[in-house]
Parts: sequence; C-alpha cells; structure tokens
Amino acid sequence: MNKSNELNLLVSEKREVAKDILEFRFAAPDGSGLPPFSPGSHIAVMTPSGANRQYSLINVGHQPEFYQIAVKLEPESRGGSQSMHADLGIGDPVTVQAPENSFPLIEAPEYLFIGGGIGITPLVGMASFCDANDKPFRLIYCARSEEHAAYCEQLKSTFGDRVVVHFDGGDPEKAYDFWEEFMIPNANHTYCCGPKPLMEEIQALSGHWPEEQIHFEDFNPQSGREYINSPFVVSIKSTGESFQVDEASTILETLRSNGLRVPSSCESGTCGSCKMRLVAGEAEHRDFVLESDEYDSAIMVCVSRGRGDIEIDFEDY
Ligand code: FES
Repeated sequence: MNKSNELNLLVSEKREVAKDILEFRFAAPDGSGLPPFSPGSHIAVMTPSGANRQYSLINVGHQPEFYQIAVKLEPESRGGSQSMHADLGIGDPVTVQAPENSFPLIEAPEYLFIGGGIGITPLVGMASFCDANDKPFRLIYCARSEEHAAYCEQLKSTFGDRVVVHFDGGDPEKAYDFWEEFMIPNANHTYCCGPKPLMEEIQALSGHWPEEQIHFEDFNPQSGREYINSPFVVSIKSTGESFQVDEASTILETLRSNGLRVPSSCESGTCGSCKMRLVAGEAEHRDFVLESDEYDSAIMVCVSRGRGDIEIDFEDY
C-alpha cells in the first residue's frame, strides 16, 4: 500500500443490510470531510486480520463525510470478511487507502446496470449519481432471495420502475434472461458486477457489442474467492532483473514502480491487456481471462501472484 494515500479513519456505523452482509461507514476522527471520489470507486481496507481487501464505495462521493461499504461474510473466507464482521466495531480505528476507480462511468446516452448479490454495491452509487444528474439508467438486480438482497427496498423505493429485481432462489435454471438486453447493439454502456457466472454470461451475451461498452468490476469477494497476499520475488527473464512484490502491491505495480512498462487497462483481471509469459514457478491465477490450459505459461500481472518466487517475461520475448 502506498503510505502517502493512507487514511486513518474510525468506524462510525456498522449495521446489517441483508443476511450475512454488514454495512460499514468510515469517517475522519475529527469529523472533517474525506477525499472525494467518482461513481464506481473503491477503497482498500486493512482488515483486522491484516489482510488487505478492496470494497466498492456505495455512497455518492462529491463531498463525502464518510465512506460507505458493505461486506458479505464468505464462509470460505481466510480472514478478510470474517475479521471485518467479527473484529471491527463502531469506534474502532481503520486504515484505508484513498479511493481509486477502475470501474468509471463513461459518458453514454443510457446505462444498464447489472448487479448480482453483493456486486450491487458499486451500482447503488452509480444509480444515485445518474439519478442526481438526470442521466437515464436501468438497474437489474439479481439475488438469491429478498433476505439476501442488500439495499433492495431502498433501490425500489428510490428509483421505481427503473429497477428490476430478480430472485432465483439459488437455482441457475431460474436465472434472469438477459438476452433481450443484448440482442441488438446500441450506444448504451453496461456495467456489471457480481458472481463470476453472471459476469461470464454477460460477457458471452455481449460478444457482438463493442468491447468498450461493456464494463465489469470483479475484485469483490462476491466471486466467492478471497486471497491472502504473501510476498514473493518476481524475476524478468529478458532483463535479468528481480523485484520483491510485497503483500500490498501487485506485480504490475511493482514492475511499474521500477520503471518497466506493461500495458494495462482494467487492472482487475478481466480485459487481458497485462498478460505476460510465465517462465518458471507457480502462479496463483486470480484473473477472469486465462483458460486453464494457459495457467502454466501465462499470468495476468494486474491481479495474479506467485505461489513463491516466479520468473516471467514480456509476451514478445
Ligand atoms: S489490466 Fe486488464 S487483465 Fe490486467
């Protein structure tokens, strides 16, 4: 984590907003305003367990007095969400990294927001922003059931028929049919955040759309995966250089801060632009791009890490 971006805040509110989902608000200890943020932004939170987690910001960030996030308790959690739920209480200090945005709203005639489960969080802020700025949007919110659907009532009462809520009871056979939304390409932009199957479906249905009109956000634990970052050494075969990748940095950030240029775009493992060759060592693949038969030979350096030291190289070497 870049120390200069760190903010030392306090938990000002903690409440249940759905089954196994807690909302947290973080405010400055002296009540002063916080750095502003744009719709789609996230913060990285140092959880009580020591794991660093990214969470989408839910509130509108023009002049924020607090940062609002929601954390789903993941049964398979190895620390992040469990420690947020169990060990972080109102009044506790919390260190966060200032907001960043890898899921920004691009100017468009109309927006389609698609949220699945806890993936609704960035879309709540986007819908509020569009509503306040007279930008047309629709929101399709898919969840297992009403009790699992955070902010469901708030969204329906605030945005009326611009919101469609669909409950599938956890049965893939009852999943929402999105085909009509994507059948005929138009100038609108789609923003999707949710579990991997939902994002894969939207990716498949929108294959005939211009890629730049379909946006995905996928770092949250709604993917069902949480990771513990361990430090490791990454070596670049063609240059002979080696760098330590610490817990709070990605390979991409490490290479960049050492003056190496690696193409990137989404920086969340979905676009495919930061692909490098995996020459030696084993990778922990966290992306949504590579096929499993590429796992031994490629790595997306914006999100994936080494299970121990690894050697990589640029694609054209
Ligand atoms: S920058 Fe998009 S996958 Fe890495």
